[in-house]
Amino acid sequence: MPKLLLRDLRQVVSPAGTAAPLRGSALGELDLIEDGYVLCDGVTIEAVGRMRDLGPLSGDVAEVDGRGLCAIPGLVDCHTHPAFGGDRVEEFSLRAAGASYEELHAAGGGILSTVRATREAGEEDLRAIVERHRGWMLRAGTTTFEGKSGYGLDRETELAQLRAVRDAGGVPTFLGAHATPPEFDDADAYLDFLLADVLPEAAQLAEAADVFLERGAFDAAQARRYLEACRGRGLALRLHGDQFTESGAIPLAVELGARSVDHLEATGLDGVAALAGSDVTGVLLPASALFLGRPMPPARALVDAGAAVALASDFNPGSAFCESLPLVLSLAATQLKLSPAEALGACTVNAAHVLGRADRIGRLAPGRTADVVLLDAPDWRHVAYHLAGDVVASVVQSGTVAFGRAAY
Ligand code: NIG
Ligand code: FE
Repeated sequence: MPKLLLRDLRQVVSPAGTAAPLRGSALGELDLIEDGYVLCDGVTIEAVGRMRDLGPLSGDVAEVDGRGLCAIPGLVDCHTHPAFGGDRVEEFSLRAAGASYEELHAAGGGILSTVRATREAGEEDLRAIVERHRGWMLRAGTTTFEGKSGYGLDRETELAQLRAVRDAGGVPTFLGAHATPPEFDDADAYLDFLLADVLPEAAQLAEAADVFLERGAFDAAQARRYLEACRGRGLALRLHGDQFTESGAIPLAVELGARSVDHLEATGLDGVAALAGSDVTGVLLPASALFLGRPMPPARALVDAGAAVALASDFNPGSAFCESLPLVLSLAATQLKLSPAEALGACTVNAAHVLGRADRIGRLAPGRTADVVLLDAPDWRHVAYHLAGDVVASVVQSGTVAFGRAAY
């Protein structure tokens, strides 16, 4: 593989330092090089610097003309649900006419309608679906994505979802505790089955486990039982929590040493303080709050209190049919009142931390994986400023131009 030189870049921007996760004022600190380059050697970044300091290169070097472009680290989407059959456009229309997400869920629609379609899809179709969604994410600048199961809720389909995510290059998370499927009378009986019949094999495929801790889904006692069993199988822990109600997700996450609590639209001051005093990252999903017309999570309060905060898309067919982290960056700036720099840190370094990969991805620095997004913009902040804009010109993934302008 020849070296790849991204040259004459207007700006090269990366979260400063080497720490992870970034908290407080450190979240907004960037290294910014004007008129710079990124040199990739195989799958790794060899050097980042100013053009005027670039010495002669020997051997076979492919070059990308970066004039007019800005480089940021490949974006990391640490929360998606990409393995689903069908769509929810009917439900979307009903919600536009006034139905609520929770009402549709309670009536057997919502997540359970996607479960029906996902079970019908079969493994080959699921693989093609995840590949397609992976392509959408890549074109929006996502070079690493996490993908959850949770639309199978039976052994075969949960495992098929995890394999489809893994084989598409994603980081699989076992979300068996997403909802109780109709063949079980109650959540406890479903968990009996899940932990005995699905978890042992799921734990071989997934890196983490996740649970929907919410009114109408799983309560704190059930979530604890599920997460403790998953931890016993070596999985990292994550929770969907405080989406509609504060139901004990943050205290449970802190107690169990979870990697993250995700959503937090309903989190109050006590939750903010508890998260800030812990090693649990709050994953904020503003596209989901926007899509459902829900309040935004208390992002500013979390960052100011010193909590570790990440941003993700929550890409899924029901609550956030949105794969675009650039749009999430825009929402972070306009709705969450994070600076563009804070937002960038939240969906690079801090998202990588949630996935246990902060030593490898999330920064443009020597020795890191060569994942780079080239923005067609005069200033890197256009990635957030240009609302739903077409700013991603090229994406380099593991040292290869995976989308956009090829090397010459
Ligand atoms: O993160 N809230 C629970 N799970 C997903 C939505 C899943 C769906 O609606 O299909 C979420 O919002
Ligand atoms: Fe989610």
